[in-house]
Amino acid sequence: MNKEKVQIFDTTLRDGEQVPGCKLDTAQKLIIASRLDEMGVDIIEAGFPVSSPGDFLSVSEISKIVKYATVCGLTRAVKNDIEVAASALQYAKKPRIHTGIGTSESHIIHKLNTTREDIIYRAKSAVAYAKTFVEDVEFYAEDAGRTDNAFLAKVCEEVIKSGATVLNIPDTTGYCLPEEYGAKIKYLKENVKGIENVILSCHCHNDLGMATANSIAGAVNGARQIECTINGIGERAGNTALEEVVMIFKQHPYLNLYTSIDSKQLNEMSRLVSDSMGMIVQPNKAIVGANAFSHSSGIHQDGVIKNRATYEIIDPLDVGVNESSIVLTARSGRAALAYRAKKVGYELTKIQLDIAYSEFLKFADIKKEVLDDDIHQIVEACNCLEV
Ligand code: KIV
Ligand code: ZN
Repeated sequence: MNKEKVQIFDTTLRDGEQVPGCKLDTAQKLIIASRLDEMGVDIIEAGFPVSSPGDFLSVSEISKIVKYATVCGLTRAVKNDIEVAASALQYAKKPRIHTGIGTSESHIIHKLNTTREDIIYRAKSAVAYAKTFVEDVEFYAEDAGRTDNAFLAKVCEEVIKSGATVLNIPDTTGYCLPEEYGAKIKYLKENVKGIENVILSCHCHNDLGMATANSIAGAVNGARQIECTINGIGERAGNTALEEVVMIFKQHPYLNLYTSIDSKQLNEMSRLVSDSMGMIVQPNKAIVGANAFSHSSGIHQDGVIKNRATYEIIDPLDVGVNESSIVLTARSGRAALAYRAKKVGYELTKIQLDIAYSEFLKFADIKKEVLDDDIHQIVEACNCLEV
């Protein structure tokens, strides 16, 4: 069976940048955009041009430098937003306008104070207007996760008629379960006229920790674009993490889905975004966290030293990490101490290791982590080399 490509739509510079206190200036955004382009991202959402002169400038400058990816600008379903986005995108080789409106009852009643008919009218008008500026128009049905499927299908059908090329189905509040989100995509595939002519896109938030799982469920059920951010940054609990999606498709080839991302660049990309935004990546973050390839318990260390595959499903080199690390703590065993001692120059015999290990445990109970320098001290303090 032929593998099908899932396009990666990176929104680090738009949804990701909505993180409180994490502003990027235009120069920083340009560096990130060109690295995303080199890494193989298909679409870069560069910003929300009408939101501020700074964002307009960033989208416009990014449009000039991006070589391969489509450059996208967000708008509301408002004429002026669309005009401003079109102007910001005028230098892009491949421009896309991303316009849309809320479709859930909550958004229609409480936010927009209107009717379903009016939502359809505004959605169609926005897409048709955007289409007068660019060929590639993506429509988002905000809060699609909580929108009833029949109405969502109706909105989708109408915006396809107006010329939408991509339909974004956001789980804006991170509410859906993977089965539910996957079923929503399947329902749209089966019930929307003209759906075969457009790409369905997943845009999932992480309020219940399920953004990545929901995006994968969407792709398995027919979506061919995933909207995501580096390190999963974004509003509230964040968005789907790009690095997770890329590695899930790589590690599960039987899904027959792939992305064009060069995964070896993931670790560096993660650091670039974290450093530029001043936003620390949690150490246990999947794929790019500092502990993602470190082993600290004795049982695991013994396994990994014998064969990496016992406790590692990803080769660290595949994501740009040189090697996995064996962290020495009071939970480590003799195998780990012998391994690390060898790395710093001591090939210990079994008796020498037994002596050094007792000394090591005393040390490790006091210090949280035993470092290379400490190993020299341990070996000297216990005189094990004289045995
Ligand atoms: O989460 C969301 O619904 C969005 C849209 C604006 C695409 O970010
Ligand atoms: Zn979002």
